[in-house]
Amino acid sequence: MNILVTGSRGQLGSELKELSTTQKKQQFFFYDLPELDITSHDLVDHLCHEHCIDVIVNCAAYTAVDKAETDTDAAFRVNRDGSSVLAACAKARNILLVHISTDYVFNGDSCVPYREIDKVSPRSVYGISKWEGEEQIRQIAPSYLIIRTSWLYSAYGSNFVKTMLRLGAERDTLNVVVDQVGTPTYAADLAEAIIMILERCNPAASYQKTYHYSNEGVASWYDFALAIMDISELSCRVLPVESAHYPQIAPRPHYSVLNKSSFKEDWGVEIPHWRASLALLLAKIKSTGKL
Ligand SMILES: NC(=O)c1ccc[n+]([C@@H]2O[C@H](COP(=O)([O-])OP(=O)(O)OC[C@H]3O[C@@H](n4cnc5c(N)ncnc54)[C@H](OP(=O)(O)O)[C@@H]3O)[C@@H](O)[C@H]2O)c1
Repeated sequence: MNILVTGSRGQLGSELKELSTTQKKQQFFFYDLPELDITSHDLVDHLCHEHCIDVIVNCAAYTAVDKAETDTDAAFRVNRDGSSVLAACAKARNILLVHISTDYVFNGDSCVPYREIDKVSPRSVYGISKWEGEEQIRQIAPSYLIIRTSWLYSAYGSNFVKTMLRLGAERDTLNVVVDQVGTPTYAADLAEAIIMILERCNPAASYQKTYHYSNEGVASWYDFALAIMDISELSCRVLPVESAHYPQIAPRPHYSVLNKSSFKEDWGVEIPHWRASLALLLAKIKSTGKL
């Protein structure tokens, strides 16, 4: 099976690349900007043809949530129009499209974990652009798996864990918001779940499913920061603050825990708890000495 991974230098793409070295049955082709811009139909189609692609895993996205509020056109161009291009190429060449989306499609007013069928109501430009990208795929691609995830972190790229490690080593105290609740997701776990899907799926079959995937458990950003300091044995004190005292440009959902029952039932897998996965990443960072 030939697999094209887009956005391959991002957090998830990099984790997929690392894991792909253990895969013997599949041939992976990793691309990112500037070699592959997912908004270019000609480029995507050319690569799909050249590598006889069976599955596209789309890890490419405009992910700068605050910047998207003013850089609106760019966010929609990548997240909506890029998804539409991939879906059209997938349709033309009978390719299965595995696409990653976000918990930010929900408004965060719930107090129980969101299911795939729950009403979306994104509040940020990023969330709207990702939702419209999902819809393009549902309308155009004959075979797709959309996986919504939340609070991604990894050894690669910039993320909350790395920021906390850096600030925790520099400062005595840190204020972290306590009234935004969700679930951190180690990108390596999501990458492993995607590889499992690739091993078990039949690219000639037709899939039309949306899934939720995050690590298990629930945390506020404050809980997450506390765990980072605790596991890393950093003495920095973490203080809980309300998001009203820490204004951000784009509105964030107050609650975005995802219900993963459908993913676990369909694929028969267990998902690691966020704290266990965080410990794995922190051990990896410690052993490599690279932040
Ligand atoms: N990060 C999170 O907390 C989070 C949470 C929920 C869902 N997600 C979703 O999970 C997926 C993976 O996220 P991630 O954290 O791995 O993202 P990431 O680290 O920002 O990686 C995205 C990659 O896509 C590339 N890219 C941007 N525009 C592109 C284009 N037009 N064509 C091709 N590549 C392009 C980026 O390149 P540049 O860096 O050069 O722009 C980057 O290498 C995304 O769909 C994201 O929306 C992320």
